[in-house]
Amino acid sequence: MPDSVRPSTWEKVLNFLASSDESTPYLLVDKDVVEEKASLMGRGIRNCRVYYALKANPDIGIARLLDRPGMNFEIASEGELKILASLGIGPERIISSNPVKSPAFIRQAAAYGVEYFAFDSPAEVDKLAAHAPGCKVYVRLAVPNEGSEWPLSKKFGIEPDTAVELLLYARDRDLDPVGVTFHVGSQCTNIYNWSTALDKVSTVWSSAEDAGLRLGILNIGGGYPIRYTRDVIDIRSIEEMIDTLVSRKFPDHVQVHLEPGRSVVGDAGVFVTSVIGKADRGGVDWLYIDAGVFNGLMESIGGIKYEYVVGSRAATRRWTLAGPSCDSFDVIAHDVELPEPMIGDRLLILSAGAYTISYASEFNGFPIPKTILI
Ligand SMILES: Cc1ncc(COP(=O)(O)O)c(C=O)c1O
Repeated sequence: MPDSVRPSTWEKVLNFLASSDESTPYLLVDKDVVEEKASLMGRGIRNCRVYYALKANPDIGIARLLDRPGMNFEIASEGELKILASLGIGPERIISSNPVKSPAFIRQAAAYGVEYFAFDSPAEVDKLAAHAPGCKVYVRLAVPNEGSEWPLSKKFGIEPDTAVELLLYARDRDLDPVGVTFHVGSQCTNIYNWSTALDKVSTVWSSAEDAGLRLGILNIGGGYPIRYTRDVIDIRSIEEMIDTLVSRKFPDHVQVHLEPGRSVVGDAGVFVTSVIGKADRGGVDWLYIDAGVFNGLMESIGGIKYEYVVGSRAATRRWTLAGPSCDSFDVIAHDVELPEPMIGDRLLILSAGAYTISYASEFNGFPIPKTILI
C-alpha cells in the first residue's frame, strides 16, 4: 500500500475502481477523512472558531458534509457565497479574509449579512465603508512564509507600524476594527512561522490598545500541512504551541479564528487519471496522462510534490510526467520513479483533495474533472 493514503481510504478507492466504469480523470474524496479532519481542527486551541477555506475544494457535496456544528466558512467571491447560500448556511457562519475584494462581492456579502472582512490598505477600507458600512474588520499582517511550500506573503499583508494606523483609519470611517490576521503560507512545514507571526501580532495588539482600540479577534489563517511525499508536523503539536503562545501573549477575552483549507480536504482525495501516451525524447522517458497542470494539477508547478501510483508490476524507470494539453508548460513532475504502465492504465495521484479541481480550467477542451465522494 502507498505511504500517503490511509488503509481505509485505499480500500474504498480500490473498490470504487473495481466496480465503476466512470471515465477518467476524476477526484475521489473519502467522506470519512474529511469529517475526521474537520473535527480535529482547532481542538487544541482555547476559544477557537473554525472557518473552512472554501477555495481549497468548493465541491457542493464537500460543503454539505462540512455544514456541521462547529464548522464555519471563509470565502472570497460571489461564486463561493452562492454555494453556501444554496445550502442555507447563515451569514453568522461566514467571513471573508481576502484583503482585496471586488466591490460587487462586498455588496453581495453585506446584503447577505456577512459582517467580518479582512483588509490591508486604505483603499479597501474606503470600499468597505462604501459597500458594507459599519462592518467588522481585521487587518492582515505580512509574516514570514519560509518553509511553506505554497507561500502567500508577497501578495498581501502590511508591517506592524502601518497596521495600527490602518485600524484607526478604519475606525474613523465608522468601521468596527476588531482584530488582526496573518497567513503563514499554505502547506507550512515550519512550526516557527506561527510563533514569529504571533510575536508580530502581539506588538500590533498592544500598540492598538495603547491607541484606544479594543481588539478581540486573532485570525491565524490556514497553513496546516498534510503529507504529500514527506512526513509533516502534526496538527496537535502546532495547536499546542499556538495555544501556549496565545494564552501568554494575548488577553483572556481573545477569540481565535482558524481558516484551514488544505488540511481539511487534501489527504482525503485520490485523483484518478489514465495513461494516454509514452515517448522517449532524447533519452528521457515521458509519460502522458489525461490530467495536467491546466485541469487539476496546477500546484505541481509551484512546489507541491505528489505521490503517484500505477498498478503495473514492470521494472521501474524515471519518468517525466506530463498532462494532455498541447502546451509545454503542462509538465507535472520530473524524475518520477514508477513501474512502466500500459496506455490506458490508471495512474493515481495521492493527497490530491485540495487546490486541484478548484484550480482546474477547460483549457484545450479538456473537461474539469468530476469530484466523487466515497
Ligand atoms: C485568507 C486565507 N485563509 C485561509 C486559507 C487556507 O489556507 P490553507 O489551505 O493553507 O489551510 C487561504 C489560502 O490561500 C487564504 O488565502
